[in-house]
Amino acid sequence: MIKINEHFNKLQASYLFSNIAARIAEFQEQNPQTDIIKLGIGDATRGLPHACVAAMHAAVDEMGEDATFRGYGPEQGYAFLREKIAENDYAARGADIAADEIFISDGAKCDTGNFQEILAADIRVAVPDPVYPVYVDTNVMAGRTGPFHNGRFENIVYMPSTQENNYVPEPPDTDVDLIYLCFPNNPTGATVSRADLKQWVDFARDNRALILYDAAYESFIRDDAIPRSIYEVEGAREVAVEFRSFSKTAGFTGTRCAFTVVPKECRAFDENGDTRYLHPLWNRRHSTKFNGVAYPVQRAAEAVYTPEGQNQVKALIADYMKNADRIRKEMDDLGYSYVGGEHSPYIWIEAQMDSWAFFDMLLNRAGVVCTPGAGFGPCGASCIRLSAFNSYENVDRAMHRIREALQKG
Ligand code: MLT
Repeated sequence: MIKINEHFNKLQASYLFSNIAARIAEFQEQNPQTDIIKLGIGDATRGLPHACVAAMHAAVDEMGEDATFRGYGPEQGYAFLREKIAENDYAARGADIAADEIFISDGAKCDTGNFQEILAADIRVAVPDPVYPVYVDTNVMAGRTGPFHNGRFENIVYMPSTQENNYVPEPPDTDVDLIYLCFPNNPTGATVSRADLKQWVDFARDNRALILYDAAYESFIRDDAIPRSIYEVEGAREVAVEFRSFSKTAGFTGTRCAFTVVPKECRAFDENGDTRYLHPLWNRRHSTKFNGVAYPVQRAAEAVYTPEGQNQVKALIADYMKNADRIRKEMDDLGYSYVGGEHSPYIWIEAQMDSWAFFDMLLNRAGVVCTPGAGFGPCGASCIRLSAFNSYENVDRAMHRIREALQKG
């Protein structure tokens, strides 16, 4: 008899953003005249940087000729891209990462979700609350948790990220083996200081734990003192894996290109307590289950590192950050307390009421979509997240509509 993986029964009926998309579709069907403005899912809205488009065109042309055609590429990614990343994203920031420690993939969501697969089933997982749901759901699927009660899974250590700790959780006083951190944070938009990150690296070293560090939003950091990579902290190479993406940096959400960094010294332990390096394990998993990102897409990603690409990407990010500034200004004027939006495209707002009720109110009265904080964990129950991914015109219209809707309230 074929049997299902029973752990799937513990999951919520649908993935957060699929659930929201279904609600929007239902609302639109019932209100076809409403011009909905989406500030929900963090999906790029601007066209790709021209340097990337030109590089992709050229690569597509190469694929059309026998002499320059490429079939299967290296599963880990082409050296031309891995070398550019090592040089520009790491060496330039004083972080020591070699090109062959970088694995090119089709997304940080997939990589943060898949990485747990090379770790034991009985490890203890720690996540912030609120948290990007992928970290939790993939561990539920792998059977590392008990059932779901009051917004939390048994056997997961939740670390509240709230106003009290500036949205940066402190290392727990219980035993944990695998720690997920994300900075600039999704959903709160908060950043971490080098000193706080160092505390985490020291904790992982002292407790033989591993940090999965999601830095998908690093390009939105506007202050050079804020670390962009965990490898800017001494000792991190042994205890941290880092995830990055071109999705938010260069608008690749529909183009798909990301990467995971697994330093050669990064370690876990086998059942005898002996050190096992993760690089060969991840390489084994990646080359078995993944056949590489399309050649034209890797060429497009490479173009991000050309001088024109860098200028275009900076302009793209600056446009989204202008939207974030507009949202922050409106929240200031309306007297809402919030975090994020300074070095992140997300603004996390204390809605002071049930977050799903606030979501419904904004959709019904203003035709604006936000993301209800409850979807990221109980600490988000009375918060909402607004995303800066849209045109300035739409964000400005959304802010006028939100102001009117709240004043009506
Ligand atoms: C989000 O809105 O949280 C992100 O767009 C989701 C993702 O990157 O998968």
